[in-house]
Amino acid sequence: MTWTTEAQKNLMLFSGRAHPDLATAVAAELNVSVTPQQARDFANGEIFVRFEESVRGSDAFVIQSCPFPVNEWIMETLIMVDALKRGSAKRITAVLPFYPYARQDKKHRGREPISARLIADLLKTAGVDRIITVDLHTDQIQGFFDGPVDHMHAQGQLAEYVREHYGTDNICVVSPDAGRVKVGEKWADALDGAPMAFVHKTRDPDVANQIVANRVVGEVAGKTCVLIDDMIDTGGTIAGAVKVLKEAGAGDVIIATTHGVFSDPATERLSSCGAREVIATDTLPIPAEKRFENLTVLSMAPLLAQTIREVFENGSVTSLFDGNA
Ligand code: R5P
Repeated sequence: MTWTTEAQKNLMLFSGRAHPDLATAVAAELNVSVTPQQARDFANGEIFVRFEESVRGSDAFVIQSCPFPVNEWIMETLIMVDALKRGSAKRITAVLPFYPYARQDKKHRGREPISARLIADLLKTAGVDRIITVDLHTDQIQGFFDGPVDHMHAQGQLAEYVREHYGTDNICVVSPDAGRVKVGEKWADALDGAPMAFVHKTRDPDVANQIVANRVVGEVAGKTCVLIDDMIDTGGTIAGAVKVLKEAGAGDVIIATTHGVFSDPATERLSSCGAREVIATDTLPIPAEKRFENLTVLSMAPLLAQTIREVFENGSVTSLFDGNA
């Protein structure tokens, strides 16, 4: 009798309940199906998950985004990963297009948590071997997880859209705060060396989502301003930035963001702030009631699917960005 010791690897996709449309789109790109599962809530809010097929020996990819209520979806992710680990999956990758708690990546003052690190520890403890994510609030969050993190960027798709629809001749890339200037430089490169500006922003450390956009640093008069941010939550930062840009004589303002969190009153603020177009991606679900006329949503499914394929085949994720192996 002959025994084979090397079991064939088997790619399996799993979807949390937070953003099934994205998981379905990724599955279609990969030409696989999302593994059927039961998932339900008990009366007290506890979550139950069971997969309908054997996961033994699989290369498991759990796609879960974390919109509101974010804590529930984090818990569901951990429970799914635990079920996979106990079901003998060979490797478990958490595909988190929007990494939750990313804004709490450092202590601003004493007696504060570093919640982005805590999320990484929880994922590791549950059994996650690697993470695929998109546009972390800060790059160093990659180092919070003890394992490989494939940090993907939406900038390629967003900048390409801007180039196609607005050209690059009269563009100025604008960062909504000083912290995002480095990212702005990459945008400027992607848009043929466009000039840059940034908004000087201050925030109240005692009030969540409370910011003041003070003034624009840089020359924006008459320019088509591409205002970039990793996420729009309540829209306060971006709407404030559009206001000061307009006061400084900017022409059209185009907003480009990766994560459309869109907590209230973001829809109202974005649709009335005077921006010509808001471009976001589908890393988070944006339900019909949160959409507005000049909102464009680009899909990250092709990039996520390519990344999953490269990871599964031991290929090169870096090659997806710069063409190098
Ligand atoms: C802050 O540093 C982030 O990059 C975003 O600008 C901010 O979290 C967006 O929040 P809001 O839309 O509520 O101003």
